[in-house]
Amino acid sequence: MDRSAVEAVKARISIADIVRRYVDLKPVSGRWMGACPFHQETKPSMSVNDDEGFFYCFGCQASGDVIDFYSRINGLEFRESLEQLAAEAGIEIGNVPHDPHAAERKAKSALFLDMHDEANAWFQRNLSLAAGDTARRYLTDRGMTPDVIKKFGLGYSPDDWHGLNNFLKGKGRTPDQGVEAGLLSKNEKGNIYDRFRGRLIFPIQNLSGRVIAFGGRIITDGEPKYLNSSDTPIYKKGDHLYGLNLARSTMTRTKRALLTEGYMDVISLHQFGYTDSCGVLGTALTPEQVKRLAGFCSRVDLVFDGDGAGRKAALKSSRMILLQGVACKVVLMPDGEDVDSLLQATGTEGFEECMAQAPSGLDFCMTTLRNEFAPREIMAWAKSFLSDLSDASLQAYYLPRIAGGLGLSEADFRRDAGIAGGTRSAPPRPTQAAPPSPNGAQGQGGQGRQRLPAVGKEDKDDRYFLKFPIQYPDYVQALAAKGFEGILGTQWAVALWEKLVNAQHGQILSQLNEQEKSFYIRCREEVRESVLTGRELLEEWEHICKKIADGQQRLDSRQLKEALHQAQLSGDKERIDECLRAFQESRRRDDEQY
Ligand code: UTP
Ligand code: MN
Repeated sequence: MDRSAVEAVKARISIADIVRRYVDLKPVSGRWMGACPFHQETKPSMSVNDDEGFFYCFGCQASGDVIDFYSRINGLEFRESLEQLAAEAGIEIGNVPHDPHAAERKAKSALFLDMHDEANAWFQRNLSLAAGDTARRYLTDRGMTPDVIKKFGLGYSPDDWHGLNNFLKGKGRTPDQGVEAGLLSKNEKGNIYDRFRGRLIFPIQNLSGRVIAFGGRIITDGEPKYLNSSDTPIYKKGDHLYGLNLARSTMTRTKRALLTEGYMDVISLHQFGYTDSCGVLGTALTPEQVKRLAGFCSRVDLVFDGDGAGRKAALKSSRMILLQGVACKVVLMPDGEDVDSLLQATGTEGFEECMAQAPSGLDFCMTTLRNEFAPREIMAWAKSFLSDLSDASLQAYYLPRIAGGLGLSEADFRRDAGIAGGTRSAPPRPTQAAPPSPNGAQGQGGQGRQRLPAVGKEDKDDRYFLKFPIQYPDYVQALAAKGFEGILGTQWAVALWEKLVNAQHGQILSQLNEQEKSFYIRCREEVRESVLTGRELLEEWEHICKKIADGQQRLDSRQLKEALHQAQLSGDKERIDECLRAFQESRRRDDEQY
């Protein structure tokens, strides 16, 4: 990604100006407040901080910088938003020196999008002509209403090898362009022909509503049942979800996504009023798709077939959703039905019944594991689940629940799964052979410290400590000099701290990952609510300095003990004396302190 363009956009565009296009903003004690557009809200719950370039909603915790806001409200990809905002600000990003093909790629994408529009119009017209009789009858027989056929823009590709090819030629497109756009196919002999023939056509749209690919269902005999576009410069399998552009506005309201496996399933769900539904599109669910959904809702309910294959897919998919800290439910269909056939046969009643019985994703995983897996497979699953969590702080949430679900005590589970406990029980290994001088480790408090992925108290402490340098950035360098890093117990906290220390002025946000960014923004928002000054600030500063010193001392004395132990083992009298002297020295300093 083009970092300099990102920074330039953020520097030149005021986030308040952009937000104001969508939300009525009012000044409230030095910042802007308005109703959050990302959840249902009429009270002003969203704060916009123009100085630091971010927004934050107190209601739904939506947060980010100007590009995040613009992407989310317009349903655009990050790249698209960046391009549009850069164009507004007069920043050239097509000509950045390290990406000489950007302009060419952009032109190609624009061409392919246009060609998809043309093909889409052609497919739709064919459905309404005499050639589309069979396809129209097929749709009617399956219970699809004209409204929903129109909403999803369904079309028909006649059983003809050159229909679309000829149509596109008429629009001035070459056959090779058609092949590269994924609309036509080319055989070994070099002959070019229509990819979709005699099929019902389902256009696949991106979040901006542009058609980027097609799916086609055979309506007579033939293989395969569904044919999908292959990957092209404008479409990557596994990145998109069928129907998401039509479902996202409902999703932001219901805070839920219904996720299913088939084209027809999505369409029927919408037809029966479940307009927060979308589909995975002929592949297994991917982390990218989950991320995309998580931007619109807090729960993803899987609507899968109840057979073996469906349950297996549900286990994999719910694991993937839970890993990203998103809630989910598993709604399994009765034997032999999919949600389309169920809705068409029983209406919403049968489906509501299934939903009422649906277990949470975690319960579903636990039950499936207990019933269908061997003990060693269960432990392997749980272990890999915890280590694959997208956000280490989620461990604190899942550990007790998984332990409980498997009938283990949390302590046993931690031990069996090889996860360190909330207390640092393992003695730190001394990093140097010589007895350390009690003052020597200043500024490198991290030495000898074993860091944990975030769990429980460690994580809570780290969040508390990190808040201070985030809220009072003037103190970052002073804290670094005092060895602040040494009091951090978790890996994520150290990583964030390092970014704080190394950040260029005003450029910290773009260096942070999602988890760090939301924590950082929350801290910045809090400090606006109540900023410490004078005595209070001094007390907080001293408190943190004392924590650093205490931690340092504990570490020193552990290292000294270890060094003494080693010296005694090896019978090195001189080293023993040295260590004892160091002990006395540090005790004397303790006495002076209190
Ligand atoms: P199904 O075989 O369950 O079909 O495939 P379906 O969705 O119920 O379709 P109908 O009701 O018979 O029309 C589920 C999904 O898997 C993908 C499609 O996305 C399909 O909707 N699929 C299936 C393919 O991509 N290719 C295939 O050959 C079959
Ligand atoms: Mn079906």
